[in-house]
Formats: sequence, structure tokens, C-alpha cells
Amino acid sequence: MKDPAPKSIKPESAAGHGPPAGHELPAGNGPPAINGRPPSKWTRRRFLKIAAGGVAALGLGLGYSAAEAGWMTVAPDTIAVPRLPAVFRGFKLAFLTDLHHGPYTGLDYLRQAVAATNALAPDVICLGGDYVHQDGKFIRPCFDVLAALRAPMGVFGVMGNHDAWEGLPESRAAMQAAGIRELTNAGVWLDRGGARVRLCGVGDLWTDEVDLPAALDDATPADACVVLSHNPDVAEDVRDARVSLMLSGHTHGGQVVLPVFGAPFTPSRYGQKYLSGLCRAPATQVFVSRGLGTITPPLRFGCRPEINLLTLT
Ligand SMILES: [Fe+2]
Repeated sequence: MKDPAPKSIKPESAAGHGPPAGHELPAGNGPPAINGRPPSKWTRRRFLKIAAGGVAALGLGLGYSAAEAGWMTVAPDTIAVPRLPAVFRGFKLAFLTDLHHGPYTGLDYLRQAVAATNALAPDVICLGGDYVHQDGKFIRPCFDVLAALRAPMGVFGVMGNHDAWEGLPESRAAMQAAGIRELTNAGVWLDRGGARVRLCGVGDLWTDEVDLPAALDDATPADACVVLSHNPDVAEDVRDARVSLMLSGHTHGGQVVLPVFGAPFTPSRYGQKYLSGLCRAPATQVFVSRGLGTITPPLRFGCRPEINLLTLT
């Protein structure tokens, strides 16, 4: 018996998976082979689809980041303060910083922050500087709103670099008019049940004098001392053992914090060390707030604005 004649094997394109002979796609519907290489999968339609997807994702990301910038939260933390008198355990300190009232952070937002802070009923309220952004005309309205802050032991604050850039004399006058006591290179004693805690502050590292001895003044090594310093980098140079805790802002928590990579930009000589939360400095500890406002760009990602309610223990 004769073997059947071998069937010819057609190439796939000729077996129903491609255009039949004589029906090639017209030029323009697919890239032709170039110099014998297979055609690229990057058709114009595919490119446009991916580009449109990218633009949509970017738009969603920017929209979300703009919304997050106004999505404030109350962040409670408990901090162990060396040498804190027993009668001060449970003392509540509200910390607000980097409000940056200006083109991106309106007065309604500040009023919300003030109302939320007062509702926490803290024993004392501390402000970490950078009250405005871009223009000195925002100083007075900002402090007019902050004048509504209330705490039985008082409201205290220091200045930041933006306050110096937009008008330090105006900022100082507005702070005073708002009933907020400025603690630049100065301090007060908080008294409770016959015990005392030093609450003091220093000038901004970039724009002013940092005079820690003046801030601590007559505090002894047995005293607990809380120091307000707008810029946390100050802590790297502190060697005075009287400092129990420093409170800072300035870095905004990075403002935009990406998964894995972290914050692409931090205004600190020490990278992401003083981004946010409780940080260890060479001779003390620093609590860094993410702050409440934004500078340009007016976006936050993975870094919600916060009012810090610190319980000292
Ligand atoms: Fe700031």
C-alpha cells in the first residue's frame, strides 16, 4: 500500500490566523516589517491607550493628593519625658505647626483646626512656627483665627523660617495681639501641684539665633524641659542634658511620601531622619509633627496633616 501523499503544512498565517493571500492589511493598520525584523507591538492606538491611562492615573493621583492636603487628623501619642514630675503624668499638650495660611490653606481650614484643638481640652497648646506662606498679608488673619485657641496653662509659640521670610516683626506683633506668648530663646515654668516643668523655645535655625542656654535659663539637671524648635535639625547639636524633649515641625513629614522610596524631598541636612514622629537625636528626643498646611506644591500623599495631642508620662 502506498503511503498517502504527505500533506503540505501551511504556515499559521495561512491557516485562518491571518489574512488570506491577496487580502493583506492595507498600509497604516499595522507596522510593516522593517529590515526584516518583526513589526513592533507599539501601534499608535496602543500608545494612545497607554498614554490616556497614564494621564488618567496622574489626574487621579493629583486629585487625591490635593484632597489629602485638607484631610486633617488628630494624632494622639504618649511620650515618656525624663524627669517629669509625677503630678504632670497624663499632662496633655496639643501641638500645631506649619499651618502655612496662604493661597492653599484657607481660614476655614484654620478655624476647623482651632475648634478641633479646643475640643481636645489640652492643658497647654504649643505652636511650632511657619504660620503663613508666600505673603505677609496672611499674617494678621492667621493669628486672628489662632486667637481663639484656649488652654488653661496657656498658648505658646515659636517662629519658623517662613515667618522670617514674610515678616518677623509683623508675625511677632500679631502673635502677641492674639494672646499667644512667644518663646523664642525664652521660656516659662508650668506649675502643677507645687512641681514645675520648663516650657521654652529657640529661634529658627535657618533665619534666627538658636540660644538654648537662654531658653533653659535657670533650669537645673533635675528639671524636665520641653523645647520648641521649628527646625528639628537643631537637635543634632544639642548636648545639654537638661533637654527632655524637643518639639519640631518644618519637614511636613515629607509632604509626599511614596511607598518604599519614602519622601523625595525633605528640608533637612539629615535626610529622612526627622521626617515625623518620635526621633532619637544624639543627646535628646525630638517629636516631629507632619504639620497642618502645605507649601508648593499644595499636595500631600501618604502624609495627612495632623494636630498632635501628646500625653506626657
Ligand atoms: Fe513649614
